[in-house]
Amino acid sequence: MTVYIGTSWKMNKTLDEARTYVETLNGAPTWPGTVQPFVLPPHTVLSTVRATLDPATGVWVGAQNAHWAPHGPYTGEVSMTMVKDAGAGIVEIGHSERRELFNETDRSVNLKIVAALAAGLIPLLCVGEGLETRSRGEALRFVLAQVDAAFAGIPAEDTRKVLVAYEPVWAIGDAGIPARAEDVADVISAISTSRDLRGVLYGGSVNHANAAELLSVPAVDGLFVGRSAWDADGFLSLVSLAAEVRGTSPVPPTPLHAPVR
Ligand code: PGA
Repeated sequence: MTVYIGTSWKMNKTLDEARTYVETLNGAPTWPGTVQPFVLPPHTVLSTVRATLDPATGVWVGAQNAHWAPHGPYTGEVSMTMVKDAGAGIVEIGHSERRELFNETDRSVNLKIVAALAAGLIPLLCVGEGLETRSRGEALRFVLAQVDAAFAGIPAEDTRKVLVAYEPVWAIGDAGIPARAEDVADVISAISTSRDLRGVLYGGSVNHANAAELLSVPAVDGLFVGRSAWDADGFLSLVSLAAEVRGTSPVPPTPLHAPVR
């Protein structure tokens, strides 16, 4: 089973900083075959990361967001086709920061998944409840409702192309409370059994100290990481740890621009 280790750089990194990160990835030892790493840089450095990253690393490159419309008068937006053209093979959709700060809704998330699939991108759907919802004991219901809304009208042959990241809002960022395996196992298992998916990742304050525990959660297919992977060594150490925890096999890494199956 593939274990995905991905990072979004969020709104960080200039061109020079991106190049430095890529240089470290390019110089890393051969990737373990069972781990599929991916990085989601900001749009401004996406094509540079794509162009400078050695295909032999097997690291996927993607975008943190894109609009659902194919083109048109949407000032400041970029389309799925445009991020694909810039080098993305995967696109993050519905991160809680976008839902909270940029009015992303279940409806726009749904439109974006449809558009990503149409463009041949792997959608990475983010879902997760806030602290209040969890305190009321409604985390599971809330998250499954988000998943249902995101997949509205999408047939099973397409849902199985989608990665879902369960990222409880209370666990994300500097003010986040790191989750323990027992806090998230039920939700992850419920997402995983709700429909046929490419995989379910966990995200929110993942770091080297808690990654093994979170990877031990049954039904977790990987980790989606912010701060701990913003320097390339941190990212590489999580990839290596995932390989150790899940075991390695001598299969070659999946090539870049892996076709969406
Ligand atoms: P964090 O971010 O690892 O910095 O908490 C996770 C995320 O937002 O995906």
